[in-house]
Amino acid sequence: MTEEIKKLWPELDWIGDPDLKEKTARTWEVALERSVLTADDLNRIPFTLLCGPDLKVTFMDHKRCVVHVAREAGEKMNSFFREDLPVNMDVLISGAILADVGKMLEYELDANGKAVQGRYGQYLRHPFSGVSLAEECGVPPEVCHIIAAHAHEGDLVKRTTEAYIVHHADFMTFLPFKSRLIV
Ligand SMILES: [Fe+2]
Repeated sequence: MTEEIKKLWPELDWIGDPDLKEKTARTWEVALERSVLTADDLNRIPFTLLCGPDLKVTFMDHKRCVVHVAREAGEKMNSFFREDLPVNMDVLISGAILADVGKMLEYELDANGKAVQGRYGQYLRHPFSGVSLAEECGVPPEVCHIIAAHAHEGDLVKRTTEAYIVHHADFMTFLPFKSRLIV
């Protein structure tokens, strides 16, 4: 695992299985190698353009928050529901870290050097490109399922418990920003 990825995603340390941790990190490495965005960009660009130019929440603030919310939710569900609804924490955390990795391939630079949605991203949104990257890096299907089903594309999929958690952690930390516009 490179120092850059370790610094970008301290939450990788929460994955107990060393093989899954390495494959999760490797997927981000490959995505950044192929992206017009750098790790520094991710700690600088706003996570959404819906709230105007003053928003301080960066892409990484939002992505990391999703992982933290998902982890807390998984731990609470394990402690209250135990063997009736077991949550696999390694699968959950890996899936939460990788949910938006495909976004690295969605952007191109326009004539002014600004990152905009590119042709590849128009055809294959990040749930699809994310699965493609993750499979290439040997990430197992139960984690790829979370990437595939985390957004609205997954609404027609029978989600696993871990995929439900990541889906809701993602939307509960995004929709309030969106609805602020109309209150
Ligand atoms: Fe997403």
